Amino acid sequence: APRNRLLSGIQPTADSFHLGNYLGAVRHWVSMQDDHDAFYCVVDLHAITVATDPTVLRDRTRRAAAQLLAVGLNPARCTLFVQSHVPEHTQLAWVLNCLTGFGEASRMTQFKDKSARHGADRASVGLFTYPVLQAADILLYRADAVPVGEDQRQHLELTRDLAQRFNREYGPAFTVPAPHIVGDTARILDLQDPTSKMSKSTSSPAGVVDLLEDVAKAAKKFRSAVTDTGREIAFDPAGKPGVSNLLTIYSALSGRPVAELVAAYEGRGYGDLKKDLGEVFAEVARPVQERFRGYLDDPAALDAVLAAGAAKARAVAAPTLADAYDRMGF
Ligand code: ADP
Ligand code: NA
Repeated sequence: APRNRLLSGIQPTADSFHLGNYLGAVRHWVSMQDDHDAFYCVVDLHAITVATDPTVLRDRTRRAAAQLLAVGLNPARCTLFVQSHVPEHTQLAWVLNCLTGFGEASRMTQFKDKSARHGADRASVGLFTYPVLQAADILLYRADAVPVGEDQRQHLELTRDLAQRFNREYGPAFTVPAPHIVGDTARILDLQDPTSKMSKSTSSPAGVVDLLEDVAKAAKKFRSAVTDTGREIAFDPAGKPGVSNLLTIYSALSGRPVAELVAAYEGRGYGDLKKDLGEVFAEVARPVQERFRGYLDDPAALDAVLAAGAAKARAVAAPTLADAYDRMGF
């Protein structure tokens, strides 16, 4: 089998992916499924590091999987599964927890940020060891590559350290994964505050467009996007962050280079750009939303896809865990 195995996960922490999730991450999963042996995981175990209602979690997990299928993941060309369906993730996480230094885990900046936000007493031990579970997610599949944004670099470094440490102490159970830099990864900004990123946790509703959003509502959000008082449509992220963000989104959704868009809109106003962007979004979103509804309307079919995905994932994960257990003395 061709190597070049890739693993990536996404948390089911909202009812819909927003444009940042889609254009910055999930869209690339689709294009990577053919030139990689790709494993894509809805990481529901990670989602409970912050208190989650069971009904909401179950629903969001299914919605995340349905959206991944709706945007074009094909279970015949990749392995799509739900993390909690593969118990080896938590089993390996325990082993790796015991190889991780307390000080080492304490240095993870994402935990520092998140625990500061939740308050020290509300932040769970699960949130603290989250990067170790993430290491297990990756090492179980002996992934060669992991797509990483800036915010995940430190966690991947920990994963590499743990793989090397295990291999040195107990023998070569794991592949040391390399970061996979996805070319042309757009950072999508908040429509109302284009100095910060579009985010479900920090943006206002008007600043975020969801992939599953009603297209008329989305068009209105684009029309109300914050732009500067100038008139010229130019790509200048420092001087014109709002307009530049709209151009980035337009380009990513349409596949047309930013320079081509700038040329096409020469002499026209922001209003034209915003109105057209609403239509470009609708063209992408409508078929995705239709396919999404199809998957939600046929729960048995979605269950079958996820069960088959879990079986494919376990066929790789179980032997890896058995090897690691054996080397540890179990
Ligand atoms: P959020 O910031 O809304 O909580 P997550 O942290 O759950 O989003 O991110 C899920 C995935 O989407 C990650 O791969 C992350 O890098 C990507 N992502 C999130 N927001 C953006 C954005 N504004 N622009 C580009 N990519 C993003
Ligand atoms: Na593939």
